[in-house]
Amino acid sequence: MPLKIAPSIIAGDQSDLGREVRAITDAGADLVHIDVMDGHFVPNLTVGPGVVKALRPHSPLPFDCHLMLSEPGRYVKAFADAGANRLSVHAEAQGAADALRAIRELRMVPGIAINPETPVDRLLRFFPLVDFVVVMTVHPGFYGQALIAEALDKVPVLKHHLRAFGRDVAILVDGGVSVGNAADVAAAGADEVVAGAAVFKAPDYRQAIEALRKAGAGS
Ligand code: DX5
Ligand code: ZN
Repeated sequence: MPLKIAPSIIAGDQSDLGREVRAITDAGADLVHIDVMDGHFVPNLTVGPGVVKALRPHSPLPFDCHLMLSEPGRYVKAFADAGANRLSVHAEAQGAADALRAIRELRMVPGIAINPETPVDRLLRFFPLVDFVVVMTVHPGFYGQALIAEALDKVPVLKHHLRAFGRDVAILVDGGVSVGNAADVAAAGADEVVAGAAVFKAPDYRQAIEALRKAGAGS
């Protein structure tokens, strides 16, 4: 299966997000990754459900909202109403399991995200509740950071555990993915990758997305 590419609009032109979402849609992206930060769980602030709702008419692609929130459960319904399709919450956040149940009840796709320093074991209890796992390969908060290789090492371990549990769900690698490392990321077992700077700081979004996919295919 080719690597799915999820450009993160955090790295796009914040004054013109509608145009950016249309541009990545036209350029062949598979998902739109929307980083939601509360200034508490991570040391930065970004967008909320209001912006997701405003962007919704700009693309038919699934909106993959990554909630970097201390209490994600408080906002699940608002994201459902805004038109989000996939919601990931952090294993380190308060009430993650309840939030995941609510995400499924509201007919969105639930995902669990894990920070670089958090051991894979912490994810096991969430396996029955999720349809994808987000492995953070940078410390969340900012785009344009370098991928942490030790965090990527967790991907094959996680894949092994998921299979053992009979939950062969998609793994999304998030943080520092570039054309230079996409082959390693895919080889580690990623099914999908987030690409912030790698797409939005490239001169041609289509070329950037295709180059990531190609690198991920090992050619
Ligand atoms: C980090 C975010 C990522 C990141 C992606 O806090 O969750 O989605 O901004 O940007 P790049 O690909 O530039 O690391
Ligand atoms: Zn993200």
